[in-house]
Amino acid sequence: MDDWSPSSWASKPIKQDVVYEDAQGVQAALGKLQKLPPLVTTQEVNNLKKSLKNVALGKAFVLQGGDCAELFDYCNQDMIEAKVKLLLQMSLVLIWGANKPVIRIARIAGQFAKPRSSPMEVIDGVEMPSFRGDNINGFDATPESRKPDPSRLVSAYFHSAATLNYLRASLSSGLADLHSPLDWGLGHVITPSIREQYTRIVSRVKDALRFMQTVGIDTDRGVETVEIYTSHEGLLLEYEQSLTRLLRNPDLQPQPSSASTSTAPPKSYYATSSHFLWIGDRTRQLNGAHVEFFRGIANPIGIKIGPSMTPEELIQLLNIVNPTHEIGKVTLISRYGASKIAQYLPGHIAAVQSSGHVPVWQCDPMHGNTQSTPSGVKTRHFSDILSELKQALEIHRAAGSFLGGMHLELTGEAVTECVGGAGGLTEEGLSERYTTFCDPRLNEKQALELAFLVAGFYREIDEQLMDSDSN
Ligand code: PEP
Ligand code: CO
Repeated sequence: MDDWSPSSWASKPIKQDVVYEDAQGVQAALGKLQKLPPLVTTQEVNNLKKSLKNVALGKAFVLQGGDCAELFDYCNQDMIEAKVKLLLQMSLVLIWGANKPVIRIARIAGQFAKPRSSPMEVIDGVEMPSFRGDNINGFDATPESRKPDPSRLVSAYFHSAATLNYLRASLSSGLADLHSPLDWGLGHVITPSIREQYTRIVSRVKDALRFMQTVGIDTDRGVETVEIYTSHEGLLLEYEQSLTRLLRNPDLQPQPSSASTSTAPPKSYYATSSHFLWIGDRTRQLNGAHVEFFRGIANPIGIKIGPSMTPEELIQLLNIVNPTHEIGKVTLISRYGASKIAQYLPGHIAAVQSSGHVPVWQCDPMHGNTQSTPSGVKTRHFSDILSELKQALEIHRAAGSFLGGMHLELTGEAVTECVGGAGGLTEEGLSERYTTFCDPRLNEKQALELAFLVAGFYREIDEQLMDSDSN
């Protein structure tokens, strides 16, 4: 590719960059990262790309979710299991609802760096750098802890590796075995009505498996585990560059070289820090460093788009990062807000349709719906989240397009960060367990409820479910 290299981004204007005092420390950290093995393989990345092509064509659905800001401390057994189980439960509900395979991508094992609206903040009268994520600086409110620390770059790699190792090990040991889905541990916080609906779905799946066994179809393969892919915002380009490798691309055919009969194995540049990376809404400038980095990697990529994106700019951006119009290579993650989606999404869909690009359309109903309570607590209303999703589904349907998936900030913990949902969490209740280090997340109960409601939109069975609840 013409003048692209893993470091060509460095000559472009950059937003949200990190200025380290310790330049030597940065070089040492990046040198170390360059020698460490990839966290994901090319085969896995290519498999995800193929699955996302199916999503773009309306044959599958993608569920992406996890923390807004992952912390190194979240790298522990209970928290990883809780998140994985929640994504599995939600995906089972969505498979049933949308009647399509569901591709699962977690915001995990690397979702550390955060874009911030202001580089500095004042806490208790002291001005200090804002918290930028665990791979950059510390959350503790002291100027010392907030100083960007290059040793965190290497620490980010090892925390990602440990998280990914446990994720892979638990999946291969049967955590997602469909033969015993009730062992997926419905949390104690689930309301009786959601538990009953979920149990009903699970028993239908069990019936189907029993039927397949009775008629002699082998169910031992393919239902005992599932894939969970990893993702994060590709914000910290020094880190991403160090883990970007020129590797044999197993899906490209060797081309005979002109000079001899020998064949050169085709290679591509892969970002090996995770399967899927996305560009945030604040770093997607056409001529900027992030777009430059993203245009050269073979991974499937996401682009966040909000109200500030014009249809013309959207097409220019797609042409830059996907000049060959590869279907499903780009996931457009729309995040307008419930009150704005109707104004912007139709224009974006129309522009994309007339450009010939076929992206995955994913709705992020979180980032356009953040608001502050009168006492200054950042929250999101469950009803706004649901409304943006429902509108996305309807607008895509009306335009002859597909809503391919949803992108959520959620946690397997029983936190109190978003208001509403069947549990009826109010603004007054937010302080009970408000533990996010960045944006408010759906808790386990709210996330599963949302999956049921979205499944209901697909099946148009909301009313039946409500009827059976009241019986
Ligand atoms: C995020 O996904 O946490 C985020 C910062 O989103 P956006 O770029 O859409 O603001
Ligand atoms: Co966020």
